[in-house]
Amino acid sequence: MKKEPKRYLVTSALPYANGPLHIGHIAGAYLNADIYVRYLRACGRDVAFICGSDEHGAAITLRAWREGKTPREIVDHYHGLMKQAFEDFGISFDEYYRTSSAEHHAMSQEIFLKLAEKGAFEVKNTTQYFDQEAGQFLADRYITGTCPHCASDRAYGDQCENCGRTLSPTDLLNARSTLSGSQPVLKETAHWYLPMAQHEMWIRDYIAEGKLHEKFHHDPKQWKAHVVGQCMSWVDGGLQSRAMTRDLDWGVPVPLAGAEGKVLYVWLDAPIGYITNTKVWADRNGKNWEDYWKNDDTHLVHFIGKDNIVFHCIIFPIILKTHGGFNLPVNVPANEFMNLEGEKISTSRNWAVWLHEYLQDFPGKQDEMRYVLASIMPEQKDSEFTWADFRDRVNNELADILGNFVNRVFVLTHKFYGGTVPAYTGTPSDAELALLEEARASFRLVGEKIEHFRFRDALASAMDIARAGNKLLTETEPWKLIKTNAEATGRIMHAAVNLVASAAYCLKPFLPFTAEKIREAMGIAWPQWPAQGELNLVAAGHSIGQLPILFEKITDETVAAQVARLAATRAEQAPPQRPVKPNIDFDTFQQLDIRLVKILEAEAVPKTQKLLKLKVDSGSGVRTVVSGIAAHYSPETLVGKTVLFLANLAPREIKGIVSEGMILMAENDEQGLSLLCPVKEMKPGDAVK
Ligand code: 2FM
Ligand code: ZN
Repeated sequence: MKKEPKRYLVTSALPYANGPLHIGHIAGAYLNADIYVRYLRACGRDVAFICGSDEHGAAITLRAWREGKTPREIVDHYHGLMKQAFEDFGISFDEYYRTSSAEHHAMSQEIFLKLAEKGAFEVKNTTQYFDQEAGQFLADRYITGTCPHCASDRAYGDQCENCGRTLSPTDLLNARSTLSGSQPVLKETAHWYLPMAQHEMWIRDYIAEGKLHEKFHHDPKQWKAHVVGQCMSWVDGGLQSRAMTRDLDWGVPVPLAGAEGKVLYVWLDAPIGYITNTKVWADRNGKNWEDYWKNDDTHLVHFIGKDNIVFHCIIFPIILKTHGGFNLPVNVPANEFMNLEGEKISTSRNWAVWLHEYLQDFPGKQDEMRYVLASIMPEQKDSEFTWADFRDRVNNELADILGNFVNRVFVLTHKFYGGTVPAYTGTPSDAELALLEEARASFRLVGEKIEHFRFRDALASAMDIARAGNKLLTETEPWKLIKTNAEATGRIMHAAVNLVASAAYCLKPFLPFTAEKIREAMGIAWPQWPAQGELNLVAAGHSIGQLPILFEKITDETVAAQVARLAATRAEQAPPQRPVKPNIDFDTFQQLDIRLVKILEAEAVPKTQKLLKLKVDSGSGVRTVVSGIAAHYSPETLVGKTVLFLANLAPREIKGIVSEGMILMAENDEQGLSLLCPVKEMKPGDAVK
């Protein structure tokens, strides 16, 4: 039998304090953790739910620099905004603290020193880009340049957002410092590296075999396949040493002589934030933080987004194990990403539904968003939020299934019995029994699915209780039955009241505000999550109160307003048009001899990627041209096309071929190049004016 741990330590990724929270964050690492924790608490388990703001790293300093503020101003602002939004949305952290705190600096320095004492690091001299004008080393994000793979001129030192490839700063062509715009120079600097390759063997055992520590071995089958897959492909690719320090003036100072001006790498200090924040919480509540981190009767679970997997499954476990004494996570149920209205959510492009704005625009409707996000959580693959789907789920599921059922039961109980729950007597029909059995089975599934991190399914099972209740009322029609069979009506209404209570009970982790309204109106207390006794939460003779309508329908106008807001964002973000060149007079224009030509032959120019050699019929002979369109057109698709051509461009030699003119094309950043063809059949040599 599965051994029950004594305690749970549940963490959600510390969000960077460099922007507000959006619904993608919530669906990724916060709502799922909150559902899990609320469920564990309902079971009476000892659980600490820990989070906080991640306030260091280049993400913060860059934002500060862009806005002309100090990093401190940035983190103070966003820490406050996020803490409030989480609270208002009902994310029930036990602790939400911050990594810029004195407590956290002390904790991370202590852990770093212990690691250094144990010889966990290799100190290596490397060269790194330095901005001579700004007088500082440049974090990867501070360097932009041309991507060597796709030639985008907006690639960052760590990644090209155009082609998605991972880069290092020295891969960039024409590297520039974001700070001063100057060309950075390479300068020598020392850093403390974590030689990860040494840890490969046990990391494999840990992730692929589930070997955790002596007492608990986790079941690797319980880990999500995409999490194990991502980790294993990292390990199989060879674990590289990674610098655990940075040259930056914002962060936790490296506590060693000779390391002045250096701070801990943000991905070293951030996960230690889980430890600091547990200690802060424990100290305040008369508990021992070490019970939650060092006692192997505690289960540690990290909720994160997929971009954080290797940090939580490989790097942080290496830190914890090397330090010694700490538990490793028993599971890291990372979610994939949620898109918004067909596009990736993006803070920098303002393509998001911001949590604090939702809370303002939809006051009192936390559970509507919690319901929709839990229903579409990207548990196994990316998912998509649209406002139309939000409306449909709220209207057709929350209002029509749950709200309608609860309302009917309250109204009928008051109408027939003045609010006093009738007795369950007489002999139930097979249909009644079957529906109650269905509801009971759903009830049991909710807990089981939550324990396996299948929150979407768990929510569906909880809603199935309300579905069964609706069916019970529709099939037995107590509003008619009351006239002919008082006993059966009483029995059915007793069952229905209990189905309302049971649905609310099972929905409590998902929809805490709604469950609380129902509980209050019913005037009952919630028992500990029951092993037995489902569907038996309200006794005969108990009086229930009144309950206003639970869910208003979302109107089409509301959806339209939200979609319009996103459309406005899209319009603002449209890439700037190229500026129009200075005017020329008509005579100058007339000097250009633009004509139609027909492509006769096309072939690749050897040893080039972009160039094609074309033979074209110019109407007065065949010309040879070299054109840079190989990335957009294959040679065979070109033959036979009639296109625009600049006929009097002086011949130029390109790759040893004399090019006699130029094919004219349209160009934009997204689609690249497009040939321009006449819409009517025209002849080679026809003039273009
Ligand atoms: O990706 C992020 O938003 C990081 N701030 C997550 C850090 S999680 C943990 F390690 F603190
Ligand atoms: Zn690229």
